[in-house]
Amino acid sequence: MKIAIIGAGYVGLTTGACLAELGNEVICSDIDQRKINLLNVGEIPIYEPGLKELVRLNVKEKRLFFTTKIAPAIQKSEIVFNTVGTPLTPQGDNDLSAVYSVVDVFKKNLNNYKIFVNKSTVPIGISQKIKKTILSHVKNRKLFDVVNNPEFLREGTAIKDFMKPDRIIVGVDNKRSEAIMKRLYVPLVRASQPLIFTDLKSAEMIKYVSNAFLALKISFINEIANFCDKVNGDIKEIARGIGMDHRIGSRFLHAGIGWGGSCLPKDVETLINLGKKYNFTFKIIKAAHEVNEQQKYRVIDKLKKEFLNLRNKIIAVWGLSFKPKTDDIRESPAIAIIKQLQKLGATIQAFDPAAMLNAKSALKNNPIVYAGTSYEALNKADALLILTEWDEFRSVDFNKMKTLMRGRLIIDGRNIYNPQEIKRLGFTYYGIGYK
Ligand code: UGA
Repeated sequence: MKIAIIGAGYVGLTTGACLAELGNEVICSDIDQRKINLLNVGEIPIYEPGLKELVRLNVKEKRLFFTTKIAPAIQKSEIVFNTVGTPLTPQGDNDLSAVYSVVDVFKKNLNNYKIFVNKSTVPIGISQKIKKTILSHVKNRKLFDVVNNPEFLREGTAIKDFMKPDRIIVGVDNKRSEAIMKRLYVPLVRASQPLIFTDLKSAEMIKYVSNAFLALKISFINEIANFCDKVNGDIKEIARGIGMDHRIGSRFLHAGIGWGGSCLPKDVETLINLGKKYNFTFKIIKAAHEVNEQQKYRVIDKLKKEFLNLRNKIIAVWGLSFKPKTDDIRESPAIAIIKQLQKLGATIQAFDPAAMLNAKSALKNNPIVYAGTSYEALNKADALLILTEWDEFRSVDFNKMKTLMRGRLIIDGRNIYNPQEIKRLGFTYYGIGYK
C-alpha cells in the first residue's frame, strides 16, 4: 500500500520504518530540513534501539523515502498518517496547531480517495472536528475518511511494540476505511494480538485511559513502597506476590522514583484538565499525579537521613534519562532531583550512557559535572544515587567503587541491587520500599 507519514519524530519514524518493513511503500515527511537531510544519509535524529538498521534497510530496498515536500507525499498516498507532536500548553491543554496544519495540507491535496489516520494523541472529539474541517473544504464526503489509530509504543522497545503489539486499536466511522485499515494491519494480527475496531471517540479515549491506568499502577506500587519503608517491608516481594494474580498482572509494578517521559505526565495532565472542562473530577488520577510529584524527592529524604546538610556534598548520579534505552530526558525525575539537590547546596557528578547531551541543554542554567564513565562520576563522591536502571549499572565492581568514593552511601532509586550483598560489602543502602 502507498503510505505517507507526516512528522518524522519518534512515532512517525518507527511507524514508517515498520510499515515499510511489512512491504508497503512509505514516504516519511517532515518540515525540518535538517532532520530529513540526516535521514537521507542514513542517520537517525533520535536514540531508539534497532531503528537505524531498520530505516537503512528499507531505504536500500526502496520502500522508505524521506522528504520535506508534504503535499506530493500526500498526493501519492492512499493512507496518510499524522504523527506530529501535541505538546502541552502552559494552560495544560494540547497544542494542536501542528495537527491542524497537517489537516490543512491534506484537504488541499485530495487528488483521490485518502484516509487521514490520526496517530498523534489528541483530546476526545478531535477526530470528528478534523473530519468537519476537511469536509468544509472538499465538500465531497466520499473523497476521504478520518480514522483514529492511537499508538502504544514505548521508547526503547518501539519496534518490538509495533511488530508485536498487545492489540491494535482503530477508531473508524464506516466500513470502507475499516476494510482498508484491516488490509494494512492484517500482517500483524495474531490470536493474542487482535485488531480492534471502535468508534472514533472510544479510540481517542483508549489512548488516554491506557496511559492513565499505567500511571496509576506505578503510583499505586510507589505508595505501597513508601509504606514498606515505614514498616520494614519488601516491595519486590509484595509486587511479585500480587502480580502473579492475572487480574492484577506483574508488569508496571516496579517501585522507584516515579513516572516521567513525554507521554504519561502529559496524558495524565490532559485528562485531569479535560475533566475540569466538563465539571468532572478524576479523583483517582489526580491522586496518582500527586503521589508521582512527591515520589521523585523520596531519594532526597533518604539522603537527608544520612547527612544533616547537603552543602558541599558531592553526589554521584547514575542515570539521567526518564527510563533506560532512551536519550529522552523529558519530565525525567532525575532532572528534577538534580535541580533540588543543587538548591540544597550539593555538587552533582553525573553519568548516563545516552542522555548526557540532552541533559546538558536541559540543565544549562544548573551546570553539573558530566563524567566520561560511570566510575568517573564516583570520584570523591559522598553518595551515589541510581536514577535510571540502565543495564550497565547492574553488574558493577563494588570494591572498585569503594576506592573511588569518599563516602559509603548508595541510594538506589530503581531497586536494582541486592541490599544484603551491598551492605555486606560495607555500604549503607537505601532502596525504595526495599531493604
Ligand atoms: C508510555 C506507554 O507505556 C506506551 O504504551 C505509550 O505508547 C507511550 O507512553 C505513549 O503514549 O507514546 P513511554 O513513555 O515510552 O511509554 O514509557 P514507559 O515504559 O511507559 O515508562 C514511563 C515511566 O514509568 C518511566 O519513567 C518509567 O521509569 C516509569 N515506570 C515504568 C516505573 O517507574 N515503574 C514501572 O513499573 C514501569
